[in-house]
Amino acid sequence: MELYKFVSPEIIFGRGALEQVGESLVRLGVKKVFIVSDPGVMEAGWVDKAVPPIKEAGLDYIIWHDITSNPKDHEVHKGLEKYLETGCNAVLGIGGGSSIDTAKAIALLSTNGGHISDFEGADKVQQALPPIVAVPTTAGSGAEVTQLAVVTNTKRQMKMVIGSKSLVPDISLIDPRTLTTKDKQLTANTGMDALTHAIEAYVSLAATPLTDIQALNAIKLATRYLPVSVSNRTNLEAKDAMAMASLQAGLALSNAILGLVHAMSHQLGGLLDMPHGEANAILLPSVMEYNLSSAIERFGSIAEAMDQRVFGLSRRDAAQKAIEAVRRLAKDIGILEKLPEVGLTDELLIKLSENAMVDVCIITNPKEVQVDDILKLFTAVL
Ligand SMILES: [Fe+2]
Repeated sequence: MELYKFVSPEIIFGRGALEQVGESLVRLGVKKVFIVSDPGVMEAGWVDKAVPPIKEAGLDYIIWHDITSNPKDHEVHKGLEKYLETGCNAVLGIGGGSSIDTAKAIALLSTNGGHISDFEGADKVQQALPPIVAVPTTAGSGAEVTQLAVVTNTKRQMKMVIGSKSLVPDISLIDPRTLTTKDKQLTANTGMDALTHAIEAYVSLAATPLTDIQALNAIKLATRYLPVSVSNRTNLEAKDAMAMASLQAGLALSNAILGLVHAMSHQLGGLLDMPHGEANAILLPSVMEYNLSSAIERFGSIAEAMDQRVFGLSRRDAAQKAIEAVRRLAKDIGILEKLPEVGLTDELLIKLSENAMVDVCIITNPKEVQVDDILKLFTAVL
């Protein structure tokens, strides 16, 4: 039989998990923690809520939040400078994928040295990292559990995916209450990111029974609870479900990797700084159409997980139901069908398509991809 590998952090999940942050850091032997966040999360008050338990545990801390969405290589290096000069011995990412990925990248560079671009690709990390603790606040990125960090290479204007088991956080504290301060659009975008993770991981060439169970449950939860999570900011039942959907989708993607949607959306994020979840949400249905013939049974199972009636349908019609359900869900929560007008010239489209061909996520896409196919898929959403 084949060998399966599955990595995961220690996970503490539930309303109130944030209060466990001090004790969690103590268990990891931390003395002074470098908190990485972003201005929006700071304003929402989640960093302020993390500080008292850290103080009560007798720990010292530094707060740093000089990052933007789609975190850039120079931001990571600035954070690293601060980390080193303040003598911290652990990182704590509080926020969405940007904060957590930046925290991971700082931890990586603090012991491995070099430039963050030296670590692009799989398994380039040589030295052990300081402890990493993650507190996600967006229910989408999955960065709180993945072995990946995504950082924009500003020179090449593309996103670098860094993959290493060392990037799996030591402890992940997932507190659904943190989702109650997100606005509608961010909730919709990040929720669609989580759904994209689950769907891409489920049809990935590297999917295993260990990732399938996570992916299918994430698809089920996102289908049932994303609309109410978008329309009602304070519905805690929906927030619990979306926090779990994001977690399970993250576990699936960390271990089965992704596919063509992410290979393409990484380019839109890298070159145009487009919000990651929004780019995925717009690309997902067309890429599903493209992949359908290569994963027809699995698309049928996705349709079932999305509460579609597939009994008696042909395999193709059942699979098609999954795509219809994704389109309907995206429409219900206000996702656009086309990319916003960002001045994509023919020349830029060719560059984006060529760059997508070398993105690590393309390796596990269920269908073999040619550059012309990607060009067509980008053109279809213009
Ligand atoms: Fe993603």
